[in-house]
Amino acid sequence: MTQDELKKAAALAALDYVPEGAVIGVGTGSTVNHFIDGLAGIRSRIAGAVSSSEASSARLRAYGIPLVELTNVDELPVYVDGADEIDGGFAMIKGGGGALTREKIVAAVSRRFVCICDASKKVATLGCFPLPVEVIPMAARHVSRELAALGGKPVLREGFTTDNGNLILDVHGLAITDPRGFETRVNQIVGVVTNGLFAHRGADVLLLAAPGGVERFE
Ligand code: 5RP
Repeated sequence: MTQDELKKAAALAALDYVPEGAVIGVGTGSTVNHFIDGLAGIRSRIAGAVSSSEASSARLRAYGIPLVELTNVDELPVYVDGADEIDGGFAMIKGGGGALTREKIVAAVSRRFVCICDASKKVATLGCFPLPVEVIPMAARHVSRELAALGGKPVLREGFTTDNGNLILDVHGLAITDPRGFETRVNQIVGVVTNGLFAHRGADVLLLAAPGGVERFE
């Protein structure tokens, strides 16, 4: 199976976690695109979706799935999203697609985070995938220096602006042994909007697709 076929298998398995009649949270990325495609087949069973990016909103809209503003919602029963890396404690690096801030906001109001991944995303220690950090543009050089002082090698994502009008620094060379502590530490840097560590609010369910099938971890 190709990596994309594995992503699709994990994504379709997540349809089992969609409650009847609910508004659900929808993440961003190629794995989530498969989930949205699957959601289209059961769209009459859901009330709508809160989207984490303009890209996912466009895909949901194209299928006629009602988009709900988070400002009109207090809590979501479930949030389905992918990850760039996930560890044994269900802490993740996210933001490869640059949607980390809205993803973190939607995840924060969701009772259950269902992470959908192909097996290559499961790691012992987070950090091989560069950690995305969304920054206010005028703070980019300052934040870069601070991240370097923490032991990382920040690289500006060239030609990329987030849905919020900000920049992304991708931090290479990290081995994150304390994901919660590092998430907190990076958030303390003035000018950081969000970092892509999802450790304080990690996943609750992991659907991990391998050639032998989709394993469910809760
Ligand atoms: C986007 C994300 C994605 O969930 C993450 O990058 C995984 O993407 P893909 O499903 O394309 O592998 O965090 O900001």
